[in-house]
Amino acid sequence: MSESTARLALATCAQLPDLDPDDLPLRDALAARGVPTDVVVWDDPTVDWAAYPHVLIRSTWDYTDRPAQFADWTRRVERTSTLFNPADVVAWNIDKAYLRDLEQRGVPIVPTIWLDPERNLNARAIHTRFPAFGDFVIKPTVSAGSRDTGRYDAGVTPSRSLAITHAKNLLAVGRRVMLQRYLTQVDTQGESALVYVDGEFSHCVRKEPLLEGPYRAGEKEGVLFRERVLAARDATEQERAVADMVVSELGKIFPDRAPLLYTRVDLIPDDENQPVVLEVELAEPSLFFEHAPGAVERFADAVRARL
Ligand SMILES: Nc1ncnc2c1ncn2[C@@H]1O[C@H](COP(=O)(O)OP(=O)(O)O)[C@@H](O)[C@H]1O
Ligand SMILES: [Mg+2]
Repeated sequence: MSESTARLALATCAQLPDLDPDDLPLRDALAARGVPTDVVVWDDPTVDWAAYPHVLIRSTWDYTDRPAQFADWTRRVERTSTLFNPADVVAWNIDKAYLRDLEQRGVPIVPTIWLDPERNLNARAIHTRFPAFGDFVIKPTVSAGSRDTGRYDAGVTPSRSLAITHAKNLLAVGRRVMLQRYLTQVDTQGESALVYVDGEFSHCVRKEPLLEGPYRAGEKEGVLFRERVLAARDATEQERAVADMVVSELGKIFPDRAPLLYTRVDLIPDDENQPVVLEVELAEPSLFFEHAPGAVERFADAVRARL
């Protein structure tokens, strides 16, 4: 570290002034390595970010209502400090449109129909894009913690109507919308989160399926939703192959930034039971330290080495 007194800022949100419990082992692990930390609220106007040579983004989960403000904050911090992950990486990652980018590079993603607000789609145009049968998902491209995400049943007329209203409401306020079939294998197999530290695979956990649906506007307003982890699990060979590919493509997209301090790749099985990318988390992912022995030590070592 450049200065012995320099503290590492762990950025959080006002609702979690003591960080998410998932991150508490990190403070201890860093302290044990001689790295004192301050937990700092990202949008607290009284904070002097320049006082922190390094800032690590953690539980800043309330930014999804104000993505532009959050992106501004990351750029502002970067003028005086080193930010993990860097601002350009975070900006790319805030909008799930990055999945299109990865798909064009050959990465298998959850099949998605993209609805852009600029197209002024009417109810009928939205409706014709729904699948003919089975469950499907409507979600905004900027979201975290399943906020504004709804699951619907294509075979039930009132459910389709709710889905139209949901999509229209998002589009009406200028948000881009993703429409996906609900991949039902997730109900039995869950979702896998593969965490990479400095570009190296670190650990994998299994998350519960989250969406019961149907969604009703307002239901989850203001709630910070913690993902439920079932257990650590070994990533399958196929999962590793897909997630490794994401990490390798990130290296090409951000040649000056790679390897990133942290990368989390969330995978679910498609109907052929092949893993496909649900999302890639490069800004504020839970890293599930308590579920994977050795993970927090690995991560703290990697942070320490960058100071
Ligand atoms: N197409 C889908 N099929 C099955 N489950 C889905 C699908 N899309 C989302 N989900 C469920 O909803 C949750 C939240 O969706 P996700 O795309 O991860 O957005 P967020 O950024 O809000 O976490 C996922 O963890 C998963 O359980
Ligand atoms: Mg998710």
